[in-house]
Parts: sequence; structure tokens; C-alpha cells
Amino acid sequence: MFLVTGATGGLGRRVVRLLREQEQPVRAFVQLTSRYGELEHRGAQIFIGDLGSERDIQKACEGVRYVISAHGSNASSRGGAEALDYRANRELITAAQAAGAEHLTFISVLGADRGYEDAPVFKAKWAIEQELRASGLGFTIFRPSGFASNLISLAEQFRQTGIYLLVGDPQSRSSIISTDDLARMTAAAATTSAALNKTLAAGGPEALQRREIPQIFGRLFNREPLVINPPLAAIDGLRTLLGFVNPTAQTSLGTLRTLLANEFFCKPTEIEQLESIFGFPLETLETFLRRYVSI
Ligand SMILES: NC(=O)c1ccc[n+]([C@@H]2O[C@H](COP(=O)([O-])OP(=O)(O)OC[C@H]3O[C@@H](n4cnc5c(N)ncnc54)[C@H](OP(=O)(O)O)[C@@H]3O)[C@@H](O)[C@H]2O)c1
Repeated sequence: MFLVTGATGGLGRRVVRLLREQEQPVRAFVQLTSRYGELEHRGAQIFIGDLGSERDIQKACEGVRYVISAHGSNASSRGGAEALDYRANRELITAAQAAGAEHLTFISVLGADRGYEDAPVFKAKWAIEQELRASGLGFTIFRPSGFASNLISLAEQFRQTGIYLLVGDPQSRSSIISTDDLARMTAAAATTSAALNKTLAAGGPEALQRREIPQIFGRLFNREPLVINPPLAAIDGLRTLLGFVNPTAQTSLGTLRTLLANEFFCKPTEIEQLESIFGFPLETLETFLRRYVSI
């Protein structure tokens, strides 16, 4: 039995679909408020719980052989980085061990090891990576760059308006990864011996400059992009203002600022390693988007 947390998220939903296509038994950890009908329809066992609850995590791990941690904190989640990215994963490791599970696949983030002090999500991922490596459980850690699926709604907005908002340095590079490719690797990691006890940078095959994204949108929709490019200082101004009314949101914006202020791309050798371990070529952002947007 596989346990997938974040089963209704962008990545987790794809992982559950793939595992069910292979007729693997899957327990999907979902919230009562989540949209999980499709997962149930595909034959996943639905476990309704809250990752803020140790008891729920322990119960969800009962009888499980493989754990896939694909949840995370985002703007709409009830818990922040400390509750979801740190404590829930810590408890998952403990509960997986207690349940006699063999392997845990953890979705970290590219740059988790760079010591970004101002980014709670990066700090939580780094702490969990270290705890998992020391746990004695079999593991695979993926450190992905940004997901291509994040760009689907931006592409749809671009189709309507032709406008693209690019905050910060247009030349900053990122190896945006196809969420479908990452899901394939995530679903396969526990049963792929070459992925055992590996920490893998995971990006797409090209280190794209951020200014190239509106160009890709322009090609997809045959429309000249109008790029609005506020400086990073705009985020800093927003953070200072937020600090007066909502200090928690101010802290969370630290992760966003870190993402906007730094480059997140993979070396060609890291891409080759992924392709060789999992045995398929990684797709570009443009190929991914052509499948998802209405052209
Ligand atoms: N997106 C990216 O560009 C990116 C880049 C690098 C790394 N990552 C990492 O990759 C992983 C997957 O990201 P994603 O973008 O696919 O995530 P996502 O779409 O934001 O989904 C988050 C998932 O966590 C669930 N969740 C949140 N709070 C919960 C709680 N208290 N109890 C139970 N479930 C809860 C959500 O459930 P609901 O559906 O009910 O909200 C959802 O299924 C995360 O670990 C993320 O940090 C993402």
C-alpha cells in the first residue's frame, strides 16, 4: 500500500492517478474540504484527516509499505511552513518507521541546502531532508524547481490579455519541471533501485531565463507579449506594509522573495542523472503547456 499526502495537490493528484493506472493500492490523505472525488473514482482509498494532527498521521500510516510526502503549505492552506512542511513531515517519518514502512519519498525544493535564512519553506525542507537521511528508512528526496503546472493559469490569463507580470530580474534562470514528469518519477521512486537513498535535483531539460516565459506564451497563442516588470523592491515594500497588519504573512512572503531573488536551475549532468535513473526524456515547458492550454 502507498500512502500519498497532498493527494489533491498539483503533484499528488498526478501521482495517485499514475499509481492507480498501474493498479497499485493507494491511500490518499485528504482533507474533508478537499476535492477528492476523482481520486475515489479511480479506486484510491480515501483517508480523511488533517496533517496538523499526529493521530491522523499515525492512523494513515498503518499497514503502509511506501509513503509519498507530496503535501506542502501554500497561500490557502490552514498551516504554515512550520506546521505542514516541518512538523507534519517529521511525524510522517516517525509514523512510517513505527508502521514498518520501507521507503519514504519526500518532495523538497531546489536550493534547500543553500541556507536561505529568510525562507521558512526552504528551512523546513532542509531540516526534514536531514532527519529523513538519518532515519534509517529507505528514501528518495526530490529537489524540484518550479512546477510547469503553476504556469497553466498564468498562460490562460495571458491568452485573454497578452500581459505577463515579471517581478525581478528577467535574466534570472529556472529549470521549470513538467509536473507530469515529476509525478512519474515520484510514483516510481520507491520501486526503482537506482533511486534508493538518493537526493536528486529535479528540473526540466532547459535553464530558462524568466524573460523567455512570456515568449513561450506568445508562441503558444500567437500573440505579442506585453511584459510588466516591477523591481524586486516592490515585494520588499509590500512585506514592510504587511508587517504592520499581518506578521505571519510577512514571514511567508520571505519564501516568495527568495524564489524571486535567486536562480533555480539544474546542471546538465543532473538532468542526465534523472533521465538515466528513470529511463525517459524530460519534457520542456512548452511541450507541457501545449497539452494543457486551449490554443
Ligand atoms: N509548486 C511548485 O512549484 C513547487 C516547487 C518545488 C517544490 N514543491 C513542493 O512539492 C510538493 C507538492 O507541491 P504542489 O504545488 O503540488 O502542492 P499544492 O498543489 O499546493 O497542494 C498542497 C496539498 O497539501 C494539502 N494540504 C494542505 N494542508 C493540509 C492539511 N492540514 N492536511 C492535509 N492536507 C493538507 C492540500 O490539500 P487541499 O487540496 O485540501 O488544499 C493539497 O493537497 C510540496 O511539498 C511543495 O512544497 C512545489
